Amino acid sequence: MEPLNNQNSIFALPERARLTPGDFEYAARLLQSRAGIVLGEHKQEMAGRTLALRAHQVGHASVRDYLDDLSRNPHSPEWEIFVNSFTINHTAFFREQHHFEILARFVRTRRKPISIWCSAASTGEEPYSIAITLRESVPQPDVGVSIWATDIDTNAIQKARDGVYSQERVKPVSDEYLRKYFQRGTGRRAGMVRVKDNLRTMIEFGVFNLLQKDWPPPATFDAIFCRNTMIYFDKDTQVKVLERFAPTLKTGGLLFAGHSENFTYLTDAFRLQGQTVYVKT
Ligand SMILES: C[S@@+](CC[C@H](N)C(=O)[O-])C[C@H]1O[C@@H](n2cnc3c(N)ncnc32)[C@H](O)[C@@H]1O
Repeated sequence: MEPLNNQNSIFALPERARLTPGDFEYAARLLQSRAGIVLGEHKQEMAGRTLALRAHQVGHASVRDYLDDLSRNPHSPEWEIFVNSFTINHTAFFREQHHFEILARFVRTRRKPISIWCSAASTGEEPYSIAITLRESVPQPDVGVSIWATDIDTNAIQKARDGVYSQERVKPVSDEYLRKYFQRGTGRRAGMVRVKDNLRTMIEFGVFNLLQKDWPPPATFDAIFCRNTMIYFDKDTQVKVLERFAPTLKTGGLLFAGHSENFTYLTDAFRLQGQTVYVKT
């Protein structure tokens, strides 16, 4: 599907295709009910450009018509483009390094099968960091170890699946791990690296909305990563998602949150263990 190109000029768009304040609230309501993401007022200009351009591209006379069309058609493929254009995919290899040290110690205490859910995997840096940690910490990691890496954003998860990164992106990865787990691109791919199969085969990638109805069965995972994502949700949505995470974790399982996320007062299902890591109670 054609991604939205925010760089395109909207000056050529007819006036009626632009965003009104009412349209912004309407768009924000649709986005929040679909993906949980709260669209702050400061995003109004960006949302205006994005939605006006998209409404024009798909032949709607106004942004309001475009939003009405989405609202009337919950199964429309256009939802994918709408949601993708408002996600924030900022991520990095070994972001919040202490979590990977905690994960390494934790998995050494677990019995196989060991299963990790990376539930907002963005463009893949996080699940590949988890995979490296597991390969370095669990004996015979090719057997009984799996990672499920999901995200609502279909473009991000495709990049994750491709596993191709610039040299700049892999700067946080040590030289030793770069040699073991990445191959250097040549020719057209010079300056890029590609994840080797020893990591890739540990991970199953998929599109998954944390607000969707069907969830993984109970007691499936040893650990869940949901970092720097709930910060974009309101409190009610955070509680709902946390209460759905809890039964999918095995006894003693860990939930890894982002550095500025605090779930302590939201649910009794988890107890803070320290450094934004929660244990299922
Ligand atoms: C800022 S990134 C964080 C990536 C990674 N977890 C990290 O900490 O580096 C937030 C990710 O959450 C995803 N996301 C937002 N709403 C979501 C939802 N309802 N379900 C699943 N993923 C969602 C976005 O697409 C985005 O890739």
